[in-house]
Amino acid sequence: MDQQEPPKTEELKQRVGSTRYFWHSPIDLGDGVVTRGPRVARRFARRMRLMQIPANLSGKTVLDIGAWDGFFSFEFERRGAKRVLAIDSFAWDQGGIDCFLLAKERLKSNVEHQRMDVHELSRESVGEFDVVFFAGVLYHLRHPMLALDNISAVTRELLICETHALIPAVHAKWPMMTFFPGDEHTKRPWRLCGYPTLAWLQEALTHAGFAEVEFKYTPSFYWYKKFLALITNTPRSGRCVVHARKAGPV
Ligand SMILES: C[S@@+](CC[C@H](N)C(=O)[O-])C[C@H]1O[C@@H](n2cnc3c(N)ncnc32)[C@H](O)[C@@H]1O
Repeated sequence: MDQQEPPKTEELKQRVGSTRYFWHSPIDLGDGVVTRGPRVARRFARRMRLMQIPANLSGKTVLDIGAWDGFFSFEFERRGAKRVLAIDSFAWDQGGIDCFLLAKERLKSNVEHQRMDVHELSRESVGEFDVVFFAGVLYHLRHPMLALDNISAVTRELLICETHALIPAVHAKWPMMTFFPGDEHTKRPWRLCGYPTLAWLQEALTHAGFAEVEFKYTPSFYWYKKFLALITNTPRSGRCVVHARKAGPV
């Protein structure tokens, strides 16, 4: 006999399925509905561990750049942040704002949102934030250094940045970055526009005005990837997490 789903679950599933853009993150909307499956949920749980986001954000203001469906924004609110602002451009323009707004409604969240490109971010437009979160965005950008300058201008204490990093066979200690005109050319959407060596990140964040730059996680299988890069004559990449500080620890 078919197990009938309760009407509330069925109705919510329909709403989740009818957003104009796809869901990126595993958000538990209640009534038995999670927006992505267990494999994605495991990936996000691992990312969250590696990012070392402060467990207690009470009294802090947080800016989430490239928030998409708001997974991390809602998490910052859950951790006690007094104000969270989510910003995004591309995904929201494609209809991803539907996902964010549905999740916000279901979670009865007070997270604020503003459609904004990080290239246009400024203290005048959004103010300053204790913590700025910038995950999975740097490698999409046309002007990464401009973005880091803008981010520095709105960060009071801590920037948490997660990105793909470049692993060349040699010269990894040079501040280098790739350029693929990926996000600018929708025919090749799988191409990430630019990813930097760890040395580039260190230099760029320091140059943008951060006093302390600490790598919390560097790419896994580093030496294996370097070897692959050497024998295939093609640089490799891997995720990294960096905390950059303006003032004392959060
Ligand atoms: C790979 S997703 C990362 C989403 C989420 N931050 C995470 O880490 O899971 C990249 C996000 O960055 C946004 N994005 C890309 N370029 C942007 C820009 N110039 N300004 C603001 N957001 C941007 C995209 O719309 C998308 O939501």
